[in-house]
Amino acid sequence: MAEMTPEEEEALRREVAQAFPGHQGPQLFEQNDLTHIKHVIGVVSGKGGVGKSLVSGLLATELARRGAKVGILDADITGPSIPKMFGLSHERIMADGERQLMIPVTTAGGIQVVSTNLVLDHETDPVLWRGPVLMGVLKQFWEETEWGEIDYLIVDMPPGTGDIALTVYQQVPVDGIVIVTSPQDLVQMVVAKAVNMARQMDIPVLGLIENMSYITCPDCGRKIEVFGPSKVAESAKEYDLDVLAQLPIDPALAAACDEGKIETAAPEGIVDTAVSRIVETCAVLDAAK
Ligand SMILES: Nc1ncnc2c1ncn2[C@@H]1O[C@H](COP(=O)(O)OP(=O)(O)O)[C@@H](O)[C@H]1O
Ligand SMILES: [Mg+2]
Repeated sequence: MAEMTPEEEEALRREVAQAFPGHQGPQLFEQNDLTHIKHVIGVVSGKGGVGKSLVSGLLATELARRGAKVGILDADITGPSIPKMFGLSHERIMADGERQLMIPVTTAGGIQVVSTNLVLDHETDPVLWRGPVLMGVLKQFWEETEWGEIDYLIVDMPPGTGDIALTVYQQVPVDGIVIVTSPQDLVQMVVAKAVNMARQMDIPVLGLIENMSYITCPDCGRKIEVFGPSKVAESAKEYDLDVLAQLPIDPALAAACDEGKIETAAPEGIVDTAVSRIVETCAVLDAAK
C-alpha cells in the first residue's frame, strides 16, 4: 500500500495533463506590486473533517504569536471554515477603490485572511461553482489581492488531490506542506497519496500532524487512544518524515473555534514543533537564495 501503483501514478499524470493541457514546467501566478509574500506553507489532508482548518488556524496563530506577519489563504473554496474560527463571519472583503484589488480581512491577532466566505453575501450560501470558476477564484485570491508584507502565508488546502490542489501546487510557490491525518484515516494510504503527489510536484513535505490522537481523561488525566493505537509513527518512518504533533481531541478548543476565538483559546505550544520546522525550513530557503 505504501508506494503508488504504476496505474495510480499514470492516473495522477493523466489528471495533471488534463488540468493543464500543454503545460510545461511551473507557471506561477503573478504577484502584484502591493504583495510581498515571502513563504507559502500548504496544509493538506486526504479527506475533510480531519482538522485541516483547525491546524491551519493553529499554525497561523502560533506564527503570529511569535511576531511574524501571517496570512491565511482559504483554498477550501467550496468548504471554507477559516473566517468562522477567527470570528470574522460578519466581516467582508473590501476592494481597494483605485486598484480594484481585494483587501484581506484582519483578525484580532493581526492575521490577514482571504476566503470565499468573506466574499459571499451569506456564509450559508452553498458554493455551486465548477472547476474552471474555482480555479479563477484561487487566481484572484493570489493575484488580485493586496496582501502587503507576509512572512508566512498558510494555505488551507481543499481535501484530497483534486483540481484546486493541483493548481495550488503548480501555480503558487509553495515552500512546503504539512500533512494532517487522524487515527480514523486509512493513514498509510492518505500519507502515501499526499507524499507522492507533493514529490511529483517537487514540493517538500515538512512532516505529519496527527489530529484527534487521543483524549485526556478529565478525572485521572490518562491519555486514552479512542480510535486505537496510532499508526502515524509507522507511516512517518516509511516515508522518512517526522511527526510534528499529535493533537488531542479538545472539546474546549472546538467550542472556542465555533465561537470564533481560536486566537485566544489555542493552548500555548500546542504546535510548537511544527511551527519551528516551518520557520527553520524557510530560514534555510532564505539563506540559499
Ligand atoms: N483536536 C480536535 N478536538 C476537538 N475538535 C476538533 C479537533 N480537530 C477538529 N475538530 C473539530 O472537527 C471539525 C472539523 O475540523 P476542521 O478543521 O474543520 O476539518 P477539515 O478542515 O479537515 O475539514 C470542526 O468542528 C473542528 O472544530
Ligand atoms: Mg476545512
